[in-house]
Amino acid sequence: MKAALLESAPGELVIVDDVEHDAVGPREVLIKTAAAGVCHSDLHYMQGKYRTRTPTVVGHEASGVVLEVGSDVTYVKPGDHVVTCLSVFCGVCEYCLSGQLVLCSKRATRRGRGKPQRLKRGGEDINQFLDVSAFAERMLVHENAVAKVGTDLPLDRAALLGCAVTTGLGAVIRTAKVEAGSTVAVIGCGGVGLNVIQGAALSGAAKIIAVDRLTDKLEMAKGFGATHVIDASDADAVQAVKDITGDGVDYAFEAIGLKPTTEQAFAMLRPGGTAVVVGMIPLGTSIELPGVDFMYEKKLVGSLMGSNQFRTDMPRYAELYTQGRLKLDELVSARLPLEQVNEAFAEMERGSVARSVIVFD
Ligand SMILES: NC(=O)c1ccc[n+]([C@@H]2O[C@H](COP(=O)([O-])OP(=O)(O)OC[C@H]3O[C@@H](n4cnc5c(N)ncnc54)[C@H](O)[C@@H]3O)[C@@H](O)[C@H]2O)c1
Ligand SMILES: [Zn+2]
Ligand SMILES: [Zn+2]
Repeated sequence: MKAALLESAPGELVIVDDVEHDAVGPREVLIKTAAAGVCHSDLHYMQGKYRTRTPTVVGHEASGVVLEVGSDVTYVKPGDHVVTCLSVFCGVCEYCLSGQLVLCSKRATRRGRGKPQRLKRGGEDINQFLDVSAFAERMLVHENAVAKVGTDLPLDRAALLGCAVTTGLGAVIRTAKVEAGSTVAVIGCGGVGLNVIQGAALSGAAKIIAVDRLTDKLEMAKGFGATHVIDASDADAVQAVKDITGDGVDYAFEAIGLKPTTEQAFAMLRPGGTAVVVGMIPLGTSIELPGVDFMYEKKLVGSLMGSNQFRTDMPRYAELYTQGRLKLDELVSARLPLEQVNEAFAEMERGSVARSVIVFD
């Protein structure tokens, strides 16, 4: 099958047509990929800022139609529409059993060492990236890496539930539990940040302050519910947030993955506030904070994939979209064939897109 291969990192993707998947295991699902979103996390691995085994097929935010299911699978059947999620859960480890599904050890959901791997090319094992490997015509995944969605949800938009929407909304609703009436700042208005903004709007936040250094991103942010915008290219974001709020925000979300903006998120909190790190800060980078701020009960927390419980969350988000209360159409800036995946990443680095979506035949 055709797939976008990362042969080594740092590196660009190469389109090849000879990646093979193994036979479907008892608890696995084979999916015909319909669409796969282009997320900045893939780029961090391609650039070597995070490590993954190579060769690998990247991509992790996808939707598709079930082709075949393993003998023990009852949750889905051929023809069902599904969204994949890298937060595959085993359901039996300590993390899963205590409700922290995103922290699952994943030991029971992967094919073990020494066993035939899910993906191969010319007899060589291909690492399944984040348990998904979405930039491929088919995905062979554990059944607990999929959520079923209705056939009325367009598959190109459904793909975005796989990461950007679940991460952004989850950071607000599940990680931070933002209350109605509170004040929120969001630094970085890409595919993930825009979803933090619409999550804050859905939660009833009173002031939602979007920070980016590109004016077209700030325009988009208003469409997703931002009540105020700050152009970080010509303003001190911390001071600007304090000017708007008086003494800072209740919640600040960092959705870029940088040390300075993470420190800004913490600095723009009011006493008692919570800063949530959503962006992937490069390996080896440390964050420095003024220790005295902890005396004011300021908190800094991480959020992995929006602390999701995606089998519950994704159908809820699909319902909100159907009711016209969740924006997905506006998130898709471009639909591209797999051959243009490197261009899509270059476009993301320039910052002009909300989300590019790779669509398959
Ligand atoms: N925590 C998780 O589970 C999780 C899940 C998905 C993505 N992520 C991470 O979230 C981050 C955002 O992902 P994305 O796909 O939305 O990326 P993106 O590239 O689409 O968006 C980044 C945005 O930040 C803006 N920006 C960049 N530098 C800036 C600066 N110095 N000041 C202000 N704005 C700046 C850009 O203009 C852009 O709008 C990435 O680090 C990604 O890896 C984390
Ligand atoms: Zn588990
Ligand atoms: Zn992602």
